[in-house]
Amino acid sequence: MSEAPRPAGAELAAAMAALHARAFDEPWDEAAMRELLAMPGTFALALGQAPALSGFVMFRIGGGEAEILTICVDPALRRAGLGRRLAEAAAAHAMAGGAEAIFLEVADDNEAALRLYEGIGFYLVGMRPGYYRREGAPVAARTLKLDLAPPARPS
Ligand SMILES: CC(C)(COP(=O)(O)OP(=O)(O)OC[C@H]1O[C@@H](n2cnc3c(N)ncnc32)[C@H](O)[C@@H]1OP(=O)(O)O)[C@@H](O)C(=O)NCCC(=O)NCCS
Repeated sequence: MSEAPRPAGAELAAAMAALHARAFDEPWDEAAMRELLAMPGTFALALGQAPALSGFVMFRIGGGEAEILTICVDPALRRAGLGRRLAEAAAAHAMAGGAEAIFLEVADDNEAALRLYEGIGFYLVGMRPGYYRREGAPVAARTLKLDLAPPARPS
């Protein structure tokens, strides 16, 4: 049976930072991970064992909405369904936490992430031109949304 993403706290901050450094050009360090995890409403779910996590997702829930702050999978373990499992688990936790929608920002040229999110049901709700920089060149951010619960019917 596939391993289920499990809650991850500050005890995994160093392992999360190590994986983030392998996944992003501008990674967040251990202090940044700790700072985010200490914020109310911020959660992480992880796969694998420290110090070598297979993947993790960090997200924030508040005000009836949620936001995926970051998600990454070990480069050696990609295309095996881990990213989808993490994103779906984050969405399930957000829904259980009262969120009716989950948002995220993704670079316009991040084909892998865009396909992953589209496959789950995220859709485009906004563009932020020049939000990221890639080797000095501006890259737009797409804001995506996934509806988690149907809007309440007026009674
Ligand atoms: C994005 C990321 C988390 C995906 O993780 P993953 O474990 O490889 O994803 P999955 O195996 O669950 O893939 C799910 C679906 O996403 C799509 N997908 C994933 N990687 C893809 C790629 N390189 N090219 C095209 N489609 C891809 C496919 O539709 C895939 O389904 P399929 O394998 O059945 O075709 C991973 O590539 C990663 O860590 N990237 C670096 C960090 C990053 O960019 N994070 C997102 C920031 S917004």
